Amino acid sequence: MNATAVSHPNIAFIKYWGNRDNTLRIPMNGSLSMNLDGLTTRTTVSFQPSLPFDELIINGHEVMGAGLKRVSEILDLIREKANIDARAEAVTENNFPSGAGIASSASAFAALALAGSAAAGLNLSERELSRLARRGSGSASRSIPEGFVEWQAGTNDEDSFAFSIAPPNHWDLVDLIAIVSAAHKKTGSTEGHAIAPTSPLQTARVADAPRRLEKCRQAILDKDFNAFASIVELDSDMMHAVMMTSTPALQYWKPASLAVMEAVRMWRANGLPACYTMDAGANVHVLTLESEAQGIEKKLRGIDGVTNILVARPGGMAKIV
Ligand code: DP6
Repeated sequence: MNATAVSHPNIAFIKYWGNRDNTLRIPMNGSLSMNLDGLTTRTTVSFQPSLPFDELIINGHEVMGAGLKRVSEILDLIREKANIDARAEAVTENNFPSGAGIASSASAFAALALAGSAAAGLNLSERELSRLARRGSGSASRSIPEGFVEWQAGTNDEDSFAFSIAPPNHWDLVDLIAIVSAAHKKTGSTEGHAIAPTSPLQTARVADAPRRLEKCRQAILDKDFNAFASIVELDSDMMHAVMMTSTPALQYWKPASLAVMEAVRMWRANGLPACYTMDAGANVHVLTLESEAQGIEKKLRGIDGVTNILVARPGGMAKIV
């Protein structure tokens, strides 16, 4: 009983920040993202009746403690559905530097949900897989379907799942990830979601989310870069405003992050298609179009404090290999 799955992380254009239910990971607002094709997680799950407990190996290193517990909880959900009780070994490899501050929980739990359920003999629909991945990490729900993906917030376990709004070849967006810090973030997303309600700005951010979601979805469907750029930057800034005004305050920006954001704004004012978005870390995702990607990558490399650029295009769905 074993299966291998590959999946991609995703970059959110409209962000998930704060849960209605932290255990089930039912978000306060819907979100929109694009899978990142250049970055891949590959996970093999095998259920073995002889194992005394679940085992997790990430990039060749055995992981215990909280990381293992989070994986075991997903394996428990799979065991319950499949009506089996064998423990499992999960072996996972990322092709992207894990120290680069690129979130891997989305691709990790998408690949785990898919490989784990297939290894247990379950044949889950895309929606069921998205719901299962969501339980491990909210953003993982969006790494199950292909291309450009919307996670509808829903209000319960059944109606909170993600679906594709356009395939990868719909729009030739490129994500140039400007690495400014390879450090692991001090406060992870899970703790961040839990304190989001302490910011007085969160209510306003959540109340306006349906409008931003609609604008962003339409901009993607119309391939309207300027409309896309302004709503994506606004949404990122609003999430970071909530983070900075939470108790305790979360401050992810580094001087080089700010330098990149300022440069991107200037380039766009000068007519280049470029906009920025940041997750819960210091690295800046610079979104542009294929035609301009090389030139913008070169400009980014020239900014002080930018140590590397990772390049990703719209990626496919999580797959069994
Ligand atoms: C800032 O999905 O990593 O990247 O559900 O606790 O695992 P958990 O959180 P996670 O949160 C992602 C936060 C974000 C924005 C986004 O991807 O939408």
